[in-house]
Parts: sequence; C-alpha cells; structure tokens
Amino acid sequence: MGKVHIMDHPLIQHKLTYIRDKNTGTKEFRELVDEVAMLMGYEITRNMELQEVTVETPVATCKSKVISGKKVGLIPILRAGLGMTDGILKLIPAARVGHVGLYRDPDTLEPVEYYVKLPKDIEERKLIVIDPMLATGGSASAAITALKKRGAKNLQLMCLIAAPEGIERVQKDHDDVDIYVAAVDEKLNEKGYIVPGLGDAGDRLFGTK
Ligand code: PRP
Ligand code: URA
Repeated sequence: MGKVHIMDHPLIQHKLTYIRDKNTGTKEFRELVDEVAMLMGYEITRNMELQEVTVETPVATCKSKVISGKKVGLIPILRAGLGMTDGILKLIPAARVGHVGLYRDPDTLEPVEYYVKLPKDIEERKLIVIDPMLATGGSASAAITALKKRGAKNLQLMCLIAAPEGIERVQKDHDDVDIYVAAVDEKLNEKGYIVPGLGDAGDRLFGTK
C-alpha cells in the first residue's frame, strides 16, 4: 500500500493556516500556495539520487555531488494544481510539465476529464501529480489512471489538504503511489468539501467566486 507522508515542517504548517483563513484574499492566497508548494517540493525531493562529479573551485579540484537518476515530470490537475506548479519549478526548473484537466461534477462528485497533454517520455520520468485538494479522491485517482494508461510507471501524489476518504480511495485504486500532504483533515461535508479544509481551491486561487 502507498504510504502517506505528512509534511509537518513548521513553515508549511504556519503558511497553511493563512491559506485556510477565509479572510485571506486571492493575491495572498496564491502567493502562500506557491510558497508552500516550494517547501513541499523541497521535502518530496529529499531522497533524490546523487552522483559524484569532479569540480574545480578557484582554489582546488574536489569531488562534489549533483542530482542524478530519473528526470522529473510535474502533473498539475487543472485548474487548482496550477497554483502549486511554479513553486516546485523554482526548485526543479528542468522538470517537464504535463497537464490533466478534470472537473468534479457538482451533483455526482465524479471527475470529468477534458484535457490531457503530457511530455513524450513520461514512462521514463518520476511524476509528481499535484492538486491542492484530495477530497473524495476521485479526481486524483482518475488522473493517475489516465497517466498509467499512457505509460507512467513512477508516480507520487502531492496535495495540500486531504480528507481521510480521499487517501483511502487513492490507496485502494493505486497501491503503488505514495501520498504527500501538509494536513489530513477531519471529513467531507455533504457537498464533498473537506472540513475544515480551505473552501474551493480553484475559486480562491483564481478569484472566480
Ligand atoms: C477540485 C480540486 C481537485 C478536486 C478534488 O477541483 O482541485 O481537483 O476538486 O475533489 P475530489 O477529490 O473529490 O475529486 P475542481 O473539480 O473544483 O476543479 P477546478 O480545479 O477546476 O476548480
Ligand atoms: N475541491 C475543493 O476545491 N475543495 C474541497 O474542499 C473539495 C474539493
């Protein structure tokens, strides 16, 4: 079964509080999501492989390390995943970005796919699927299925806030995928929103409501 990693770094937790706050406006919300995504990106890359190289400093020649191993692909789930993309790209600027467009039908809560555009070599990349919210888990699970159908083999899921129901769904559907979150909240409400959560992530990021 995929593991759940809770990123409890104090800076992540501090910023998440202001992201949750209903009085935080669009500009600040977007900035905070960007910052937290970067901090989470720092944590998720902790186990990247390194290889030794030789470098000449102005003083002497020495052995030093550079990142090696699989290249990275970021897969934001549209729309809200876009809010986390730039923060991670600041750390891994060479990562390729693929997009999976899904929206949740407000009545059935089932994900509806409307767009998929991926780098050609996804089967060779370590893919990080990003979305601020893991609620029922339907969207994340469908995005991962869409990626696997197109050859993806090495996947991780990164979200700001998860509901227990969403974690359970992804673990059941995709037992090879580890989940990285800043918080696991209490439950879903009758409309499928995470309680206490942060509201509608897409609307808060893009000021659409
Ligand atoms: C939100 C969120 C996730 C999804 C989570 O997107 O960004 O993609 O809901 O819900 P689930 O786990 O129950 O599937 P939404 O459908 O509101 O689309 P948007 O990002 O375009 O606003
Ligand atoms: N999508 C959101 O944006 N927020 C939730 O709480 C659940 C799904």
